[in-house]
Amino acid sequence: MRSEVPHARRLGPAPAADDLSPAERMNVDELRSVQLERLQWTLRHAYENVPWYRKKFDEAGVHPDDCRSLEDLAKFPLTSKADLRENYPFGMFAVPQQEIRRIHASSGTTGKPTVVGYTEADLDTWASVMARSIFAAGGRAGHKVHVAYGYGLFTGGLGAHYGAEKLGATVIPASGGMTTRQVQLITDFRPEIIMVTPSYMLTLLDEFERQGIDPRTSSLRIGIFGAEPWTEAMRAEIEERLDLDAVDIYGLSEVMGPGVAQECIETKDGLQVWEDHFYPEVIDPVEETVLAEGETGELLFTSLTKQALPIIRYRTRDLTALRPGTARPSFRRMDKVTGRSDDLIILRGVNVFPTQIEEIVLATPGLAPHFQIRLTREGRMDEATVLVEARTDTPPDRRAPAAHEIAVRVKEGIGVSIGVEVLDPDTLERSVGKLRRVLDQRPRE
Ligand code: DLL
Repeated sequence: MRSEVPHARRLGPAPAADDLSPAERMNVDELRSVQLERLQWTLRHAYENVPWYRKKFDEAGVHPDDCRSLEDLAKFPLTSKADLRENYPFGMFAVPQQEIRRIHASSGTTGKPTVVGYTEADLDTWASVMARSIFAAGGRAGHKVHVAYGYGLFTGGLGAHYGAEKLGATVIPASGGMTTRQVQLITDFRPEIIMVTPSYMLTLLDEFERQGIDPRTSSLRIGIFGAEPWTEAMRAEIEERLDLDAVDIYGLSEVMGPGVAQECIETKDGLQVWEDHFYPEVIDPVEETVLAEGETGELLFTSLTKQALPIIRYRTRDLTALRPGTARPSFRRMDKVTGRSDDLIILRGVNVFPTQIEEIVLATPGLAPHFQIRLTREGRMDEATVLVEARTDTPPDRRAPAAHEIAVRVKEGIGVSIGVEVLDPDTLERSVGKLRRVLDQRPRE
């Protein structure tokens, strides 16, 4: 049956209320009271079992008993990635080692990894929110789910895996890499769902075409894409080339992994935060004050049920805004993350996010969706060059006009001059997981 929902190409309409988890059926008052109770437990659990939190709270002059409403959370200190590093590897754990069932770690670009741990109950919570996420994306028991997020210390693969199993789906644990074989597996096993980074999906799409297979004829009907920023323009590109519904999934290892927030297939209007487990706030990153709904700033999360690694007001560095719920009315949504403060390029005083370039590249005829931004320094001036590939069927004389169009759109839309080089197809490095968009070749100071 074709969907009655305008955006959904294949699936929908919205699920019946009876099919949702009990948490998704709570009204707002019920949800707020569950959150407060869990928040009070979390603050006490952190204070009593993690010396670092006790010290921080004492220094800030706050005690878990001071939290009498959800708004009181704003009195508590923030936690950053540096704090986790300082307590490397297990200093932030709040339970004895014997109760830790699994460890994950995110590598980061420099220095020590950030280490996170899970008790058995934490793993069960994670699988439940992931199952809920896949369901919200249109997945159902009996579907086959091809998981091409990396397995290992990265949370993507195993997080998706246990969630899909919990939902009653069939998991194909492909992990990342071995691109040729991925296409063969998809063709032969006929999964309805793929879970992968959007940039690796592009790599797989190219591989389909290289093997002479039209990706639109594949069995895939739903793509659950996340772990890196991607734009509405990228959604349109992937949906068109694969004839599927592309939905966004968000998460981070410090808070749990994938499944902290998920977009619903019937609305595709931002990501429902699973607020019964993860409490969101948005702050002004400089003033560190809490912003109102609808205002864009840095996203914070406080875990509400985690045992092994309670996390209080964690600074994600991701920029977004919170909005009222739609498909799941009690749960607030977050806007698609357009960038993180770490990705921000400040070019001669102008702020540029790679996602802004992505939108412009994808709107320019003749260009493939593969691009990188190279940063160099000429004298004291930083220069940015967008390296982008031509599509295989683009005539050679289209390249210079395409480069010019990008430069003009960046100048007019973002307000800064950049260089653009249109390269041959298949020349830029391909993603097998999270893509590195920025090549920083500036000399280190
Ligand atoms: O990337 C967890 C994950 C795996 C999410 C698979 C979704 C799918 P980390 O490696 O800890 O965890 O990286 C977390 O990735 O703070 C964001 O900057 C970015 N990120 C994750 N999901 C999205 C998304 C996993 N949907 C960091 N959109 C986060 C934009 C995202 N950025």
